[in-house]
Amino acid sequence: MTSCQNKVCNPFYGEQPEQWVTEKVSAKVKEVLAEMQLTDDVLRQDMTVFEQNIERGLKKDTHPDSIVKCFITYVQDLPNGSETGKYLALDLGGTNFRVLLVDLAPGKCDLTSDIYSTPVELQTGTGIALFDHIAASLADFIKNHGLENEFLDLGFTFSFPLLQKGLRSGTLVKWTKGYNIPEMIGEDVVKWLREAIERRGDVKINVCAILNDTTGTLMSCAWKNPKCRIGMIVGTGHNACYLEKQSNAEMFDEPDLGSGKVIINLEAAALGDDGALDFLRTDIDREVDAESPNPGKQINEKLISGMFLGEVVRKYTLKFIKSGDMFGGKHDDVFSQRGIIQTSFISNIESDQTGHFDYCKQILAQIGITDASEQDMIDLRYICQLVSTRSAYLCAADASVLIKRIGEPDVVVGIDGSVYKFHPLFRRIMKEKMKDLLDPSFKFDLMLSEDGSGRGAALVAAMAAMRAA
Ligand code: BGC
Repeated sequence: MTSCQNKVCNPFYGEQPEQWVTEKVSAKVKEVLAEMQLTDDVLRQDMTVFEQNIERGLKKDTHPDSIVKCFITYVQDLPNGSETGKYLALDLGGTNFRVLLVDLAPGKCDLTSDIYSTPVELQTGTGIALFDHIAASLADFIKNHGLENEFLDLGFTFSFPLLQKGLRSGTLVKWTKGYNIPEMIGEDVVKWLREAIERRGDVKINVCAILNDTTGTLMSCAWKNPKCRIGMIVGTGHNACYLEKQSNAEMFDEPDLGSGKVIINLEAAALGDDGALDFLRTDIDREVDAESPNPGKQINEKLISGMFLGEVVRKYTLKFIKSGDMFGGKHDDVFSQRGIIQTSFISNIESDQTGHFDYCKQILAQIGITDASEQDMIDLRYICQLVSTRSAYLCAADASVLIKRIGEPDVVVGIDGSVYKFHPLFRRIMKEKMKDLLDPSFKFDLMLSEDGSGRGAALVAAMAAMRAA
């Protein structure tokens, strides 16, 4: 572990990408990496593809074959600040699994949360093992926080593609982000959770809502800022949701509760699964995809999210080692190891002040390299910059499409996820690019969601419980 792992360390947050020192980057690295630089024209092409895919996902006749699924979340309202009470929340789908107690009152939200690990064996084992672990963690949380005698409503943030049949029921469409438990596909996840809780018999709770982490992020940010209409995740995975008119959401099949709107979980990660983004993918992207747990799937996610950015950096570096252009042709054994370059390394390497290599040296030492030249580190940093900038540009393109679709003059985008949170320049790069891509008549802002999945789950649970009461 580097000393600055998972912290916003040494944040040269104000530093502009234009201030990058690129003249020292070796000519070969610059030349090859030119393919990673997306022009505004290419980004506009990406936006058109995304926009067309959203239309297909929303419409009844094209939805079955659509790539971007535009799942109905059944959340029709954003919070209005009157949500009150104590709720439990589960958050499964990122790097960690969390259990939270959320105490809501007007203008107040107290969170207590514990993190439980979900080892790889559980992510790729059996459904019973995973859900027994979830129920056991929930029971442990309840005991540790003295909640045994309360009967609490629970919101379940489940961050995988889910075909919902209502707020309390959703069948798993596919696993992503390294999870793979085939027997659960097509199963109602809420039913599995309820049954695991019943098997234990020591937990009294009411599962009253299931939601995606993007919905959690939107709800949580909208609770703080009523202009929020979009939720986005740039973490282990990538996705976005937004508030759509019910009249456009042809798959929506419940009565309007008054807002005329419904949140759509786009499942934007799948954009490109039909080859529609091939015009901007590189050979390295294709290699990363081929070696991933789900080749050919979640193509947009593989260009954007934390699960893959480190791999893209590793593959480019390996390419330059093999051609003798980096590390004197040495260390291909290190860079041949899948997963050795974590995405947090990118954030840390880019947190070094320009011309300094303190974090870079720490990271290289961590993976066993102590003989890097300054040129190697300049080139490595450049690779990181281009990989993270491309991710930020593609997020900017996605968010710009949604802002245009919503059509309101002033919209806030709530964003969560480790890449967005910890990369020192991500927000700035994304925001600047959105200004290039959007008509200046659209005002917008990007808002970091803090504890979005937890607070958002509690808010959805609160709204459901208060409506049922
Ligand atoms: C999942 C989405 C989720 C996103 C962010 C993707 O892999 O398909 O449902 O919202 O990751 O966690």
